[in-house]
Amino acid sequence: MKSNNSPIGIFDSGIGGTSIWKEITTLLPNENTIYLSDSKNAPYGEKSKEEIINLSKKNTEFLLNQNCKIIIVACNTATTNAIKILRHKYNVHFIGIEPAIKPAALKTKSNIIGILATKGTLNSELFEKTSSTISKQIIIKEKIGKGLVELIESGKITSKETTTLLTNYITPMIDENVDCLVLGCTHYPYLIPQIREIVGNKMQIIDSGEAVAKQTKVILEQNNLLSNNSKNGVHKFYINKNKKVLETIISNGANKIITVTEKEF
Ligand code: DGL
Repeated sequence: MKSNNSPIGIFDSGIGGTSIWKEITTLLPNENTIYLSDSKNAPYGEKSKEEIINLSKKNTEFLLNQNCKIIIVACNTATTNAIKILRHKYNVHFIGIEPAIKPAALKTKSNIIGILATKGTLNSELFEKTSSTISKQIIIKEKIGKGLVELIESGKITSKETTTLLTNYITPMIDENVDCLVLGCTHYPYLIPQIREIVGNKMQIIDSGEAVAKQTKVILEQNNLLSNNSKNGVHKFYINKNKKVLETIISNGANKIITVTEKEF
């Protein structure tokens, strides 16, 4: 039976969704969470829609079997390709993440925004629909961040290779007068220091992590599902690949009660 103190379930194709987990556990410190990192199958962004849907169903079922009270799809690629089907199939609330192009459209002064995201996100119907609503007033420069998820998954966040790719992807946007850069993949917030080096103060960097955490709180409140736990939450991570990089990137939450388990799924 799901109760207020059942965990919040979170999944991503890999470790990137921990950027969302950090926002959620900062806003809701008493909530228990279970995080599923499907790193064995990353990147989702290069897979077909059907494959992304099947992996998203498998991840959801894993979390529902752990009695999760709500599911956070902490992956833009899975959200934009699969959330409609997940909502239809499973009787649980889902929160998804989409590239924050609408907030960027409100902030831009040049009326030109950039978006860095996976191929799967940029080619999705949902992204197409959202971008077509704003593209009448705003020019959107899209760029596929090919290779970035793999580098982050292998722990090469600050490597020269990563900086070179980022420079190739983002520098043309500076020349095109982009003043807001939307990070349309939950892995990319881990690259903000390198991105900042490249763009200086020419662009605002926008991601949706905080908005997802706020929305999670609203939905839990509306459904009387907020935890009534007075202690800090307990956090379980499951990963189907080597756990070392995951452990490193969540270690700055060291005052949290965390277990990380490598497991086939
Ligand atoms: N974190 C996922 C996202 O937000 C990465 C997708 C991938 O694995 O390609 O899109």
